[in-house]
Amino acid sequence: MSASAADGAENIQRTTGFPADAGEGTRAVRAGLPEPVKHEPTLPGPVFAAHFHLPGDPTGPYTYGRDENPTWTLLEQAIGELEAPGREDVETLVFASGMAAISSVLFSQLRTGDAVVLPSDGYQALPLVRAQLEAYGIEVRTAPTGGDAQLQVLEGARLLWIESPSNPGLDVCDIRRLAEAAHAQGALVAVDNTLATPLGQRPLELGADFAVASGTKQLSGHGDILLGYVAGRDSEAMAGVRRWRKIVGAIPGPMEAWLAHRSIATLQLRVDRQNASALALAEALRARPEVTGLRYPGLPDDPSHPIAARQMRRYGCVVSFTLPTRERAERFLGALRLVDDATSFGGVRSTAERRGRWGGDAVPEGFIRLSVGAEDTKDLIADVLRALEESAD
Ligand SMILES: Cc1ncc(COP(=O)(O)O)c(C=O)c1O
Repeated sequence: MSASAADGAENIQRTTGFPADAGEGTRAVRAGLPEPVKHEPTLPGPVFAAHFHLPGDPTGPYTYGRDENPTWTLLEQAIGELEAPGREDVETLVFASGMAAISSVLFSQLRTGDAVVLPSDGYQALPLVRAQLEAYGIEVRTAPTGGDAQLQVLEGARLLWIESPSNPGLDVCDIRRLAEAAHAQGALVAVDNTLATPLGQRPLELGADFAVASGTKQLSGHGDILLGYVAGRDSEAMAGVRRWRKIVGAIPGPMEAWLAHRSIATLQLRVDRQNASALALAEALRARPEVTGLRYPGLPDDPSHPIAARQMRRYGCVVSFTLPTRERAERFLGALRLVDDATSFGGVRSTAERRGRWGGDAVPEGFIRLSVGAEDTKDLIADVLRALEESAD
């Protein structure tokens, strides 16, 4: 969090410095650690507190557990150091879930009569958000992520919401180009960075005002917590986001915050293994006749690749493809042994699902979203290829 983030923020523990040219693995393992204190743990344990001792005037940083918590502070520093290395002007706030983070930006920044541009192919809860925004008299325009189509509906908008790569279609847009166009007409720009993680893409460096994500996915990576965050560089806008968190109370529990911080230490290890396996799996799937619509932004011939290669440093752990029918897809999922049939993505254990079962995404019935975990690459590919064989008609 930035020094201006909260009353008395100067009292908040500061992170241990690392060299300015430290690599991403070094940053991940040390991100958000406080100065070492003799006989104290390197990463202090979760602070369970609804309230803090507060004699006299109620000054921060820690007053009441819905406003601030020392475990959040360290996690917020850690995420900020990854989303915006070396930037003192960026503030990060953690939330109970990715949706809490997304809603905090949209509902704190938009007013009745404003127009907002959302992706038409983004996370499947966005249509629910759209309905709520419209109920408040906010005009919602949508366009697909691919081809930078959101540019066509930007005029007069107050906020542009980007999801790149999009979930589950894995299309990519040129964030810098869209951000410049949006800023030219005074619109704020938010990027959902869930799929890429801050080690894959840094939206704030690409010109966005907010990097927003579900920390439920690869950031925490073990499929055992829900979390969200907003990192932003406009202090006035972030004050609105902070106020929203306070009045809605969409806060993470200290245990979740601590687990996420502990997990960030292995982020680079997990991301490098999972993403390399995702590319290897995509290459193996490319050779299969029953697989169509294969998408992975790291594949050199993927339609997303040219832009992804310019703005991403890693391409994510999600591969999507289509099998000929719903029945074939269900048989395939049932035949997998190392891949759990489950929603969500980014965890160390591979998961896959027939996305059409939810009814919210415009995808074929046989569309599969597969999230590659940290298993040995060869084992995972062998499991997927065996399941394809066994599920054949
Ligand atoms: C791209 C994206 N953004 C946001 C969310 C919402 O996150 P959460 O489930 O933590 O609320 C998801 C969840 O799948 C997602 O895939």
